[in-house]
Amino acid sequence: MDPIRILYISIAGNTRNFVEHLTRYAMAQNLKNKVLPTIEATEISEESDFADETTPYFCFVPTYLDGGNGIDTGVKELMTNVMGEYIAYHDNADQLIGVVGSGNRNFNEQYCLTARRYCEQFDAPFVADYELRGVPADESRIYNKLVVRVQLLNL
Ligand SMILES: Cc1cc2nc3c(=O)[nH]c(=O)nc-3n(C[C@H](O)[C@H](O)[C@H](O)COP(=O)(O)O)c2cc1C
Repeated sequence: MDPIRILYISIAGNTRNFVEHLTRYAMAQNLKNKVLPTIEATEISEESDFADETTPYFCFVPTYLDGGNGIDTGVKELMTNVMGEYIAYHDNADQLIGVVGSGNRNFNEQYCLTARRYCEQFDAPFVADYELRGVPADESRIYNKLVVRVQLLNL
């Protein structure tokens, strides 16, 4: 199986930390059983050159929002905007096969709302969520969800 591709953005480091752990977890699974895919992760930031994506990828995005009622009106994405711009670039959204959201449950209805908004905007499924840096149980849970998704798509 080809490596699972992840494009992610991280402002304060939590998502980067989680994706690094997930990549190591995937490597360990692959060492035990070659059928299980590794992960290739790429960070997107304000400094990234935009490129045309030609192979499927998942997006991992944390939540930074301001204003609105938390759901539909006036909510404004902060800091992570370049991730959405990257997906919207040329045909990049066509290769997006799922979104994993992170956030903090203290934000109630706004928990992981950026990921949910990306799913709607780019017509992709919401694959999973986790809080902050995640815990080890999140690594296996989310890895399994990514694998199930790529298997479903016969990738
Ligand atoms: C200013 C600010 C706004 C935030 N807004 C939300 C929010 O609306 N919903 C949510 O679930 N988490 C929210 N969070 C929590 C972050 O999404 C969470 O800390 C995440 O792990 C940050 O990821 P990063 O360290 O990779 O940037 C907010 C955090 C900050 C500092």
